[in-house]
Amino acid sequence: MTLNNKTENNTWTIEGGQPLSGEVSVSGAKNSITKLLVASLLSSEPSLFSNVPDIGDRAITQSIGEAVGAKFNLKSAHSLEVSAPDLSSDEISLELGNQNRLAIMMMGPLLHRKGRALIPAAAGGDKIGPRPVDFHLDGVRKMGARVEVRDGAYLIESDGLRGADIALSYPSVTSTENLLIAATLAKGRTTIRNAAIEPEVMDLVTYLQKMGAIIDYKVDRTFVIQGVEKLSGATHRLMPDRIVAASLGAAAVASDGDVFVRNAQQRDLITFLNALRRVGGAFEVQADGIRFFRKGALKAIDLETSVHPGFMTDWQPPFLLLLTQAEGMSVVHETVFEDRFGYVSALQDMGAEIALYDSCLGKSCRFSTSHYKHSAVIKGPIKLRGADIEVPDLRAGFTYLIAAIMAEGKSTIHGIEHITRGYEHLESSLQSLGVVIEHA
Ligand code: EPU
Repeated sequence: MTLNNKTENNTWTIEGGQPLSGEVSVSGAKNSITKLLVASLLSSEPSLFSNVPDIGDRAITQSIGEAVGAKFNLKSAHSLEVSAPDLSSDEISLELGNQNRLAIMMMGPLLHRKGRALIPAAAGGDKIGPRPVDFHLDGVRKMGARVEVRDGAYLIESDGLRGADIALSYPSVTSTENLLIAATLAKGRTTIRNAAIEPEVMDLVTYLQKMGAIIDYKVDRTFVIQGVEKLSGATHRLMPDRIVAASLGAAAVASDGDVFVRNAQQRDLITFLNALRRVGGAFEVQADGIRFFRKGALKAIDLETSVHPGFMTDWQPPFLLLLTQAEGMSVVHETVFEDRFGYVSALQDMGAEIALYDSCLGKSCRFSTSHYKHSAVIKGPIKLRGADIEVPDLRAGFTYLIAAIMAEGKSTIHGIEHITRGYEHLESSLQSLGVVIEHA
């Protein structure tokens, strides 16, 4: 097993036209493992995680942990032990910080154990909007930390974080997680209002509780954290990746195939499954996964992305591709990230009829007065044709792969390494569904 799941060659050629058919397994969630590994560094005792995905973002998080003195020991294919009896550094290099957007998550463990964190301000990751970190910094400031920008990095210092009343102006996922992590060991009580309650956030909360944290969860998106003196190590099995599961489900239906997605969990996919049913896709929930297929012609629908329990923004690109196969005019209104339709131009080159608008096609959202094109109208059904495509980001990248699989003729896709950041064993999974991949 490789640590970063890099393919030998990051350009693939795919001959399209075949429906996806067969069985594929979903790994543990990317957006859980990265935060869990960070949270484990709050304790000097080891933690053991199972159902750990073999993806690039996990490798990057490990490198960040190693840079401050943590040790990672792969016990078996998907079981990972973390131990950090001492942290040797309080600084993250620009090189590591630029690889994804996770370096800022290190502020909690570093402040509690070292009193200081130097974290690069220029964070990498997908280009889907400005993606600021003001909520993270405002929150930790309220907990008593001093924050300054020095040579392109955030220097965050504290003589001991204390509880605070924090209200997020938007229920941001990583801000909520970052502040939850920081609050567990703060002195006194922290309240996080208008918090994110995504299943990945709750996966983190359950792990923190096993470590000894006291976190109450109120009905109105509020977390109340009573700080404790010390956290212990813990054993935790990750939730399955609901983004990968939905992407594969959408791909099965879009290609008019029949795919059993092992480990897909209905509970985390309820909104997706409803949308799939409305468009005319079919699914069958089984004990150990979900089968996705079509029952008849697909029909256009209107869709709006939102925070949990709404339709996830990460499901939007593969679902929009599915809508290119539906009869009529569909509408997709993106309300989470302002710039998440950049990938559409390549689908247009492949023949898709998609028009983008900067107005809200649906109820008014935060981006109503911005210049960002965050609404799309999709006319279908359209037969796509093969193309030469450059992958801009993770979720768009997977969508291009599916588009290439559905298209008539050959497609060449460059930048596969963006996709393996979040999809385990991408090549063998697609091959097991009948896709023929050549390395260019
Ligand atoms: N926001 C701010 N200030 C902040 C933080 C966020 O204005 O300090 C805004 C963002 O600009 C955005 C909105 O809040 O408009 C929502 O962003 P959020 O913070 O919820 O997103 P995130 O935490 O950066 C995580 C996932 C994303 C996923 C979103 C939404 C991780 C590592 N990333 O991002 O996953 O799309 O939540 O569910 O957990 C992916 O996996 O491909 C991915 C992009």
